[in-house]
Amino acid sequence: MAGEKVTVCVTGGGGFVASWLIKLLLSKNYFVHATVRRPGDAKYAHLSTFEKAPENLRLFKADLLDYDSIRSAVDGCVGVFHVASPVPSSADTVLNPEVEVIEPAVKGTQNVLKASLEAKVKRFVFVSSAAALSMNPSWPKDRVMDETCWSDKEYCRTTKNWYCLSKTEAECEVLEVAKGSGLDVVSICPTLVLGPVLQSTVNASSLFLIRLLKGPESVENKLRFIVDVRDVAEALILAFEKPEAEGRYICLAHMIKTKSLVDMLKSKYPHYNYPKNFTEVQEEVRMSSEKLQRLGWSYRPLKDTLIDSVESYRQAGLLD
Ligand SMILES: NC(=O)c1ccc[n+]([C@@H]2O[C@H](COP(=O)([O-])OP(=O)(O)OC[C@H]3O[C@@H](n4cnc5c(N)ncnc54)[C@H](OP(=O)(O)O)[C@@H]3O)[C@@H](O)[C@H]2O)c1
Repeated sequence: MAGEKVTVCVTGGGGFVASWLIKLLLSKNYFVHATVRRPGDAKYAHLSTFEKAPENLRLFKADLLDYDSIRSAVDGCVGVFHVASPVPSSADTVLNPEVEVIEPAVKGTQNVLKASLEAKVKRFVFVSSAAALSMNPSWPKDRVMDETCWSDKEYCRTTKNWYCLSKTEAECEVLEVAKGSGLDVVSICPTLVLGPVLQSTVNASSLFLIRLLKGPESVENKLRFIVDVRDVAEALILAFEKPEAEGRYICLAHMIKTKSLVDMLKSKYPHYNYPKNFTEVQEEVRMSSEKLQRLGWSYRPLKDTLIDSVESYRQAGLLD
């Protein structure tokens, strides 16, 4: 499909990942139908500033729970990138998990799948998450997690990890529908996504880094699994363009302990109010993006991701 001028749909166009995906798709000459919930809202203003946006980007008002609105956006598209999903900044902020997180993720995905089948799209690229595979207490501790690992839904429920549950249920649904209908589906499972923000609102994963720079006294010295948002956008396009892409792919670039991450930040930006204490935790999982790299994906150095993130937060006044 590479090189052809084709129309694709991106759901949740105003979000952190989707904004970079749209920018990259436009730069590669795609026509893009992007769904947003409230067209005209200032939070989507950045989309119209992208190169080629005036001629090649069309915004559609759509909510994941409103099938007809999704159907209009998907109509005429060869590919669909289903990116939209609720991403709460912490489980404590979720009062009604079923309504706020699970339903939009699962029912929303069913709607986008149905619309894609009806519109006869050639490939459906789903943005899942490492959250859909990492919550699995039965996985052998000494074995690196790969794409065969799935989060245990019951475990997610009992530990009230609604986001992990929503992504696991949604991705299962996507792969089930693909089996039954023949829809060509590829699923990308990113870990914690960092990198420069294009949108004016702060998303949950960027908040993780902003909080480190603003310094809680104490943090857990957990192993962090990081990938740059621009490399996620590249992975999604690769998943769409490569005919041989199939199944799910872990999208991970760097594994680093929180203390080492803070040390890296400190070496470039010594003056922020970093955490002072790091409590040790028992490490449970490791994972690998070997499958995605075999498809031709590569990633930038962590230092570039961190510097570009901090510079974009500074510009947006998020660190004042
Ligand atoms: N960031 C990460 O670390 C990370 C890691 C792994 C996977 N992911 C996945 O990547 C995707 C994008 O996440 P992100 O980090 O870019 O978060 P984000 O900036 O919060 O974007 C989420 C998007 O979903 C849209 N959305 C939520 N509920 C919706 C609904 N009912 N109808 C229509 N749109 C709805 C939001 O629309 P509004 O703008 O209208 O609110 C927003 O555009 C998600 O599927 C997430 O699970 C993210």
